[in-house]
Amino acid sequence: MDAITLLKNDHKTVEALFKRFEKAGDSAYTEKRAIVDQIIEQLSIHAAIEEQIFYPAARSMVPATEDLALESLEEHHIVKWVLSELEGLDPRAERFDAKVTVLIENVRHHVEEEQTEFFPKVRDALSRTALGDLGDRLAEAKKTAPTHPHPRSPDAPPANGVVGAIAGVVDRVSDNVSGVAQGGLAVGQELVSRIMGTKKPASSPTGSSLARSTAKTTRATATAGGRGTAAAARTARSGVAATAGAARAGTKSTATAARKAVGTATTAAKQATKSTARTAKASAAKTTRSAKSAVSKTAAAAKR
Ligand SMILES: [Fe+2]
Ligand SMILES: [Fe+2]
Repeated sequence: MDAITLLKNDHKTVEALFKRFEKAGDSAYTEKRAIVDQIIEQLSIHAAIEEQIFYPAARSMVPATEDLALESLEEHHIVKWVLSELEGLDPRAERFDAKVTVLIENVRHHVEEEQTEFFPKVRDALSRTALGDLGDRLAEAKKTAPTHPHPRSPDAPPANGVVGAIAGVVDRVSDNVSGVAQGGLAVGQELVSRIMGTKKPASSPTGSSLARSTAKTTRATATAGGRGTAAAARTARSGVAATAGAARAGTKSTATAARKAVGTATTAAKQATKSTARTAKASAAKTTRSAKSAVSKTAAAAKR
């Protein structure tokens, strides 16, 4: 699929969610929460792949899009702030509907500009093959993109490639923390406490509220980790080490979960290496090396 079609399809998906929200009853709190959670996920992924791949490619291959790309980054920035506020806001709160309404207005304006001004310039300037290749890269990046907003993280190359890849892994691990049994939860807790440099929290065999708060802390950590490539690389290294540590201490299922997370980290780091500039490459390579060594450590631990 070519890049423009892929991005327009994303816009359609989000617009359908907006329409569903607008049709939901005033007091349909559960439904509104579920729709907004989907909006958060879809927009976080979409914004990330545009920032990691589409905008930089457009700026370098079609110089006439420079200003549009810069304006787009600022619009994304505002949208991500609103999304991050909506993440923690009770749908019964007085400001919830108003916030979603402003979000929808902002996104519709942004999408309109992309589709009428930005995308046509890119489509006119690039060959069908180039648009197809760009589409393949976007589709690949979607698999590991962050699923939650990180408004404080860098949104332009070189730093956003590495940080985005790490945020994506952390988001996806934390998304699953509440879904997996004790083993996975232990990985999440260990990851959080190692990254934050705090003592490991006491384990709870069930505790879905604990799982939720663990997930929230993990995401907050990812956002904090986004202050710089070096910091992000450090976060990744300690995160990966923590995962390996958790695997050593834990059960076989923990090891499997950890291996999966580390595998994703390696892929994400590799991807980041490909799509970011030279400066980022050095850090990404480091991340990849750490991830790889953690994989072997984890595998060894699992065998024991
Ligand atoms: Fe955009
Ligand atoms: Fe877009």
